[in-house]
Amino acid sequence: MKTIIEPFRFKVVEPIPLLEREEREAALREAHLNPFGLRSRSVTFDLLTDSGTSAMSAAQWAAMMNADEAYAGSDSFFRFEQKVQELTGFAHIIPCHQGRAAERIIFGLLGRAGRVFIANTHFDTTRANVEASHATALDLPIDAAWMPEDRHPFKGDLDPAKFEAAIAEHGADAIPMVIMTVTNNAVGGQPVSLANLRQIAGICHAHKIPMWLDAARFAENAFLISQREPGQIGRSPREIAREMFDLADGCMMSAKKDALVNIGGFLAMRDTALAAEARNQLILTEGFPTYGGLAGRDLDAMAVGLDEILDVDYLTYRIRSVAYFAEGLETVGLHTVKPPGGHAVYIDARRTLPHIPPEHYPGQALACALYEAIGIRSVEVGSVMLGHRDPETGQEHLAPMDLVRLALPRRVYTQSHVDYMIEGAAEMMQDAHLIKGLRIVDQAPFLRHFTAHFERIDPR
Ligand code: F0G
Repeated sequence: MKTIIEPFRFKVVEPIPLLEREEREAALREAHLNPFGLRSRSVTFDLLTDSGTSAMSAAQWAAMMNADEAYAGSDSFFRFEQKVQELTGFAHIIPCHQGRAAERIIFGLLGRAGRVFIANTHFDTTRANVEASHATALDLPIDAAWMPEDRHPFKGDLDPAKFEAAIAEHGADAIPMVIMTVTNNAVGGQPVSLANLRQIAGICHAHKIPMWLDAARFAENAFLISQREPGQIGRSPREIAREMFDLADGCMMSAKKDALVNIGGFLAMRDTALAAEARNQLILTEGFPTYGGLAGRDLDAMAVGLDEILDVDYLTYRIRSVAYFAEGLETVGLHTVKPPGGHAVYIDARRTLPHIPPEHYPGQALACALYEAIGIRSVEVGSVMLGHRDPETGQEHLAPMDLVRLALPRRVYTQSHVDYMIEGAAEMMQDAHLIKGLRIVDQAPFLRHFTAHFERIDPR
């Protein structure tokens, strides 16, 4: 059969809100043209993030009922620990309440002024936690990562030549860790190849620099390797994932993505001394090492989710849904980042709305239009999120690209939902030339995209 179906059926359902266009326009006005300010009851398709928004399975809910809520030494922890050890091969497994809690602990221990963390691209909370430790976060993705039209199959890769140059410049002693974010969220959910992981691990090894994975979307990355990488085609995602972890010294994970849970995360590593320090930090802010800021039931849900995520039928449906959505949007005139990545479609707003100059935030304008026309909540990843206003001069610094991310929650929306969104996008594009640019009328000094207020700019 050619048709790829959702490999699940529904046992519990939740209605989605269907609003009239006028109602959406009013809701967006009240949110000052910032979709973060919308109440979820006004959103038909919530594609703001794939984080913590998965639908859990019957098996996960059942495991939650069987959980052990003991403060110390709970069975839920040991089930979780065993599952992560099996998956990763790491000895020390430390649960935390989500990805950034893991980041806070590890960068708190290893970061300080003068130290440089290197990544294929730090996710924004990862960068923020590196910088909070007074260390520097250096992104060294390959050049193709910044070219939306380039069809490089592994745009998530870290550039080995730039990495060697950075070691020569800063010295290996100043680099406490290299972080390979799989998949590379900040450049479009793009996968990292096994060849690149091997090469970077080799360089790290030669200079005694630990290589860690930011494993939030490890299963999507492993599956994309099995689809795209010569020599890896058809290999099982579980085996590939294990090889990815085998190349690394440790990982931090936001379980809200590829562990199919609504909350959770962990640190996992080989280094016994570092693990002991991490557990001490954990006790300060997260909790005892056998629960780490989570309920026993959350640990059980993760243990089951980490198995379900590697199901080939699930991953086939997952990756195909993202590609199908991207292809559909292209057909009706939107320009997307190519090739489609693992968890989201990224729209190139500058190319899609060429009449809006970059200084009028085409990404934010498109995010507003997608909501008003179709009821989709998305997020701008462009000059609003990544640019900033110089506090001294008032000068705006723009980002290199203006993207809009449509992230697909796992196991939540169906193909008919995607077809509806594509049809809505086709209608929206007929009047795309009327979509207006925006100006910021109120903004916070940092992470402004969450709370900024906008108004529309009337064309002269
Ligand atoms: N690393 C990556 C690659 C992420 O995408 C995220 C979160 C984190 C770490 C932090 O994890 O949210 O559990 O604390 N990404 C979400 C997103 C928020 O929408 O992409 P967290």
